[in-house]
Amino acid sequence: MELFDQIDLSRVPEHVAIIMDGNGRWAKSQGRERIFGHFNGVEAVRASLKAATRSGVRYLTLYAFSTENWNRPKEEVDALMNLLVQTIVGEVDDLDRNEVRLHAIGDLENLPDACRSELFGAMERTRDNERVNLILALNYSARWEMTHAVKEIVASGIPASRITGQVISDHLSTRSFPDPELLIRTSGEMRISNFLLWQIAYAELYFTDILWPDFNEQEFFKALIDFQGRERRFGKTSEQITPRTGLNVIRRRKTGT
Ligand code: IPE
Ligand code: IPE
Ligand code: MG
Repeated sequence: MELFDQIDLSRVPEHVAIIMDGNGRWAKSQGRERIFGHFNGVEAVRASLKAATRSGVRYLTLYAFSTENWNRPKEEVDALMNLLVQTIVGEVDDLDRNEVRLHAIGDLENLPDACRSELFGAMERTRDNERVNLILALNYSARWEMTHAVKEIVASGIPASRITGQVISDHLSTRSFPDPELLIRTSGEMRISNFLLWQIAYAELYFTDILWPDFNEQEFFKALIDFQGRERRFGKTSEQITPRTGLNVIRRRKTGT
């Protein structure tokens, strides 16, 4: 049976987030420069978006550049920024045709001008699309995001007694999106690297040794199948969770919607 057919389409996570890792090692294994890995990672992005759309995932967040990635050699940072601009320019027609809405989270003000203008142009162009949301985490780090949220909350004058978890969520750059239910990291590293720390409180974590440029639709489906085999307890006991009530699934949607 095909992997896709093993997915229960009524229990697909609404939001999947991916830490796309291993481009450098993939390139090195072929005796090439690191940037060659980044170029080849674009195909894995296309494949993930296609797989997400096909299986009914509504939000796909991709960690594309972390705040800490500025510390890499200048040639690599410049090449990554150029690749980002080229990819947005090259993909925007297809994104729009496929009814994908593009969003971005992170410290976008401090991206190079060319990046910012292409990114904002593509977000504007796709803003009415509703089939699937592609969220790029760019110049993003969770600690930056939380620091920014605290500053905003304090500046808005909300008294301490009125601060709730919801108030904090509402000041994060992900405020318009549900929390991810599944977080995938490629390349065998088992860490979060400053990604969505608040939002992944109850996400299922899926680690694979596959290097990002080798990630494809089938690998995405494997992660969904693995996710569907987990029991999500949200602090309760196993006995309280019965498949009949569906408590182990955050949201149920009808097959094929
Ligand atoms: C992920 O691949 C891409 C970015 C972080 C931009 P890496 O470039 O981190 O590849 P490795 O981890 O060095 O193999
Ligand atoms: C995390 O990968 C950031 C992105 C995927 C953009 P890194 O390769 O930068 O993370 P570390 O340094 O291995 O933790
Ligand atoms: Mg890495």
